Amino acid sequence: MKKILITGGAGFIGSHVVRRFVNSYPQYEIVNLDKLTYAGNLANLTDIESKPNYRFLKADITDAAEINELFQREQFDAVIHLAAESHVDRSIADPTAFVMTNVIGTVNLLNAAREYWKGNYDSKRFYHVSTDEVYGALGETGMFTETTAYDPHSPYSASKASSDHFVRAYHDTYGLDVVISNCSNNYGSHHFPEKLIPLAINNIKNNRPVPVYGKGENVRDWLWVVDHARAIDVIFHQAKTGETYNIGGHNEWKNIDLIQLLCKIMDKKLGREAGTSAKLITFVTDRAGHDLRYAIDSTKLQEKLNWVPSLQFEEGLEKTVDWYLENEKWLSDVTSGNYQAYYETQYHGR
Ligand code: NAD
Ligand code: TYD
Repeated sequence: MKKILITGGAGFIGSHVVRRFVNSYPQYEIVNLDKLTYAGNLANLTDIESKPNYRFLKADITDAAEINELFQREQFDAVIHLAAESHVDRSIADPTAFVMTNVIGTVNLLNAAREYWKGNYDSKRFYHVSTDEVYGALGETGMFTETTAYDPHSPYSASKASSDHFVRAYHDTYGLDVVISNCSNNYGSHHFPEKLIPLAINNIKNNRPVPVYGKGENVRDWLWVVDHARAIDVIFHQAKTGETYNIGGHNEWKNIDLIQLLCKIMDKKLGREAGTSAKLITFVTDRAGHDLRYAIDSTKLQEKLNWVPSLQFEEGLEKTVDWYLENEKWLSDVTSGNYQAYYETQYHGR
C-alpha cells in the first residue's frame, strides 16, 4: 500500500485534497500532518476522519528533528506539501512566520525526503503546492505561463518563490523526484474568513462593512477549490519528474465586480431587497504593494493531462454561499477560535 504524507491537510485546500485522496484511493494510506495554526481546523474533515485509510498527526514542519523522526518511523512513499502560512496581509504585518514555515519548513521536509528516500528516489515523489503569486503582477494584458520569470512582491509570495526554488534545487542537485504546481486564487467551502470571498460572505451575513482595498480594480483569477484538488490528483499521478504545471480557471474578475455579484447572490439567498448588501461595500486603504492582476495560462495542464475546470464561477459562488449559510456553526467556531478546542476533545493523544 502506498503511504502518502499530506501536509497542511487541515487547512482550506489541504482538506479538499485529503478528502479527494481518502475517498478516491482506498488503497492508499493518507497521513495528514498539520500544526493546527489558526487556519488549521479538523472540523474540515469530519466526513472522512473515521475512514480506515486516514490518519491525523499533529506536528510542526519547522521542527526538523520531529520531521526526521517521522520520516524514519513512517516510511512515506510520497509527500504532497500544502502546509504554509497563506495570507498576504498577515505576511505584510509580520513576515517571519512565513519564512519559518514556508521556507524552512519546506527545506526540513526536503531534507528528510533526501535522507530517508536515498537509493529509492525513482519510486518516491515530492509534490510541492505553490501559487501563481510567485510570478508577480501582470498589467492589463498577458498571462502567467510555466516559463514566466519569478518576480514576487509580497513577503508571502517571496517565501513561496523561495520554497519553489529549493524544491527545484533538490531535484537538480540530488535527483529527488519533485513536481510543482502554481495555482491561481481558490474559492469554495472551508475557506478561512480572512480571505476576500469568505470574509465578504461573513460580513454581509452579519451586516458588517465589506472592505474593498483601493478602488477594487485589482484582478484575480478564481478557481473552485475542488477543481484544484482534482488537478493536484492528476498532476501527482501523471506529471514527469521535475515538471511544473500552472493551474487556473481562466476566470478573471475585478474585485469590485466580484463583490457586486456576491452582494446580489447574498440578497437573493437572505431574502433581502435587491441592493441591500451592496450598501455594505466600503472602500478602504489599499494593501501595500498590492499586485494589480493575476491570470493563469493553464494550457499545458489542459493539453498534456486533459484537465479542465468543471464549474462555472457564478454557479460555484452560489454553491459557496449556500455552504457558508448552511454551516453557521463552522463559521462561528472559526471566527471565535473555538475549533482549537475540537482538537483537544477529539484528537488529543490519538
Ligand atoms: P490555509 O492557510 O487554509 O492552510 C494552511 C494549513 O497549513 C493549515 O491547516 C495550517 O494549520 C497548516 N500549517 C501552517 N503552518 C504549519 C506548520 N509550521 N507545520 C504544519 N502545518 C502548518 O492555506 P490554503 O489556502 O489551504 O493553502 C494551502 C497551500 O496552497 C499553501 O501552500 C498555499 O501557498 C497554496 N495556494 C493557496 C492558494 C489559495 O487561493 N488559497 C492558491 C494557490 C496556492
Ligand atoms: P485575498 O483573498 O487576500 O487573496 P490574495 O491576496 O492571495 O490574492 O485577496 C484577494 C483580493 O481581494 C486581493 O486583490 C486583495 C483584495 N481584498 C480586498 O479588497 N478586501 C479584503 O478584505 C481582502 C481580504 C482582500
